[in-house]
Amino acid sequence: MDTQKATSKFGARTIDATFWRARIEHEEDAKMKLKERTANNVHTAFVEEAKAHQRLLMFAKQAEKEDLPQIAHLFRAVAAAEGVHSRRHFALLESVADTQTNLDRAFQSETAVNGVHYPKMLKGAEEDGEKAAATVFSQARDVEAVHAKLYKKALDHLIAEEFTEYYVCTVCGYTGERKPPETCPVCNAPKSKFKKVD
Ligand code: FE2
Ligand code: FE2
Ligand code: FE2
Repeated sequence: MDTQKATSKFGARTIDATFWRARIEHEEDAKMKLKERTANNVHTAFVEEAKAHQRLLMFAKQAEKEDLPQIAHLFRAVAAAEGVHSRRHFALLESVADTQTNLDRAFQSETAVNGVHYPKMLKGAEEDGEKAAATVFSQARDVEAVHAKLYKKALDHLIAEEFTEYYVCTVCGYTGERKPPETCPVCNAPKSKFKKVD
């Protein structure tokens, strides 16, 4: 039986991965009550709003570079609003369960993107000779492996007793514990590029 035994700070419970997966699937089914056309539209709206959110943040940075702080401010304000829209659309698509279930789901997702999805995309980018995309895919793949490890650690109760700081590389997303590394182990960015997580 596919059983992963672990306890956590959320209660000394035995975690049964099979049960979790069944539960997640059940919840996803329940969430998929939207009729197909609407579900597709909600998905499209989510993707486009999320893109707008990121685009406007990049526009804001550019405005700052051009010494136009008020315009940067406006871009950031609208970016925040588009973030609200994307979050609302996403809430129609996916549900949030309890934290143990969410940890397991996050672990499964990181494992899949690290082991299957990014490697496939990387291969495609390499075949196409798309070097920049290949670099981004390969670094993202490596970072997702680190994320999976962090979740595994949380699931195994190794970090429950102590507060751990996290630092994220703003270039590639590498996520380090306790203190920022001198250089990013995935993309070689210097320590100054690391942001402490609130
Ligand atoms: Fe919007
Ligand atoms: Fe990740
Ligand atoms: Fe990095």
